Amino acid sequence: MKPKILVTREVFSEALDFLSRHFDVTPNQADTPMNPEALAEALADKDGALTTLSERIDDALLARCPKLKAVCNIAVGFNNIDLKACQARGVMATNTPGVLDASTADFTWALILATARRVTEAEQYLRAGKWTGWKLKQFLGTDVNHSTLGILGMGRIGQAVARRARGFDMTVLYHNSRRLSAEVEKDCHAAYVSMDDLLARADILSVHTPYSPATHHILGAAQFAKMKPGAILINAARGGVVDDAALVEALKRGTIAAAGLDVFENEPALHPDFLRLTNVVLTPHIASSSEATRRRMAMLAAENLVAALTTGKPPNLLPPPA
Ligand code: DGY
Repeated sequence: MKPKILVTREVFSEALDFLSRHFDVTPNQADTPMNPEALAEALADKDGALTTLSERIDDALLARCPKLKAVCNIAVGFNNIDLKACQARGVMATNTPGVLDASTADFTWALILATARRVTEAEQYLRAGKWTGWKLKQFLGTDVNHSTLGILGMGRIGQAVARRARGFDMTVLYHNSRRLSAEVEKDCHAAYVSMDDLLARADILSVHTPYSPATHHILGAAQFAKMKPGAILINAARGGVVDDAALVEALKRGTIAAAGLDVFENEPALHPDFLRLTNVVLTPHIASSSEATRRRMAMLAAENLVAALTTGKPPNLLPPPA
């Protein structure tokens, strides 16, 4: 008898076909979100699960899934999974590192440019039929070229964002939990600075840290107060890394000039004031969402699940190597 697995949300057909060759698959191609109760019921008799960041995998859930041996997230982030609970209950957990770095870095640049040059604000104005003709002072933005890019969190995605800054002749500064090797710094044309220096010197600050208790609200009122008044904040990493209420206040008061946000503290709910502010560009957690990348993410998660349940050695077992 094949092991039984649940795919919690809609996935590409090639991932389902691959999984079906190895497992008895319960899919969810209707993409119906599962609340904790529905998830526990669906997982009660399953050996494995292909999950997304929308499902919380915690001890209360695992306690109700005695057969579960592997949870494979279709995401590089894994803050939806309680790794300690998984380890305590002998459940393997995996993520999808590496395959989404370039797409996420590209999209970070989309946010940087859209925010600095007021692209969505100007488009909304045009679509609303308000444009009466060219004006010298219309939608004056901030130059990205020759400005200073600050990167908080210099992992693979932060590095990919830094490398793309060369084309804009930018100065790149970064802060990270540990300093990178001289070789990587050279490759990224990036200089290591303290957190305070980063905040004080960046014209554009882009955050790329994973979310964990250690990074909860790592950017809040105190940090915004240390930034330049004309500075721009970009977050395509995780909600909760930024204190959204404090950001709304900083944007209203002009403590910082603008923000480009792909992720939010309580997504899909947004702080309501974001919708009223014109100096913020908002997108619905799509930074990795090119078709090729989302296909690769789903396939890698499926490969992790097959390896986990057949060999006990999935390639992307969590926690990640130091
Ligand atoms: C990730 O991989 O963690 C992304 O946020 C999902 O799009």
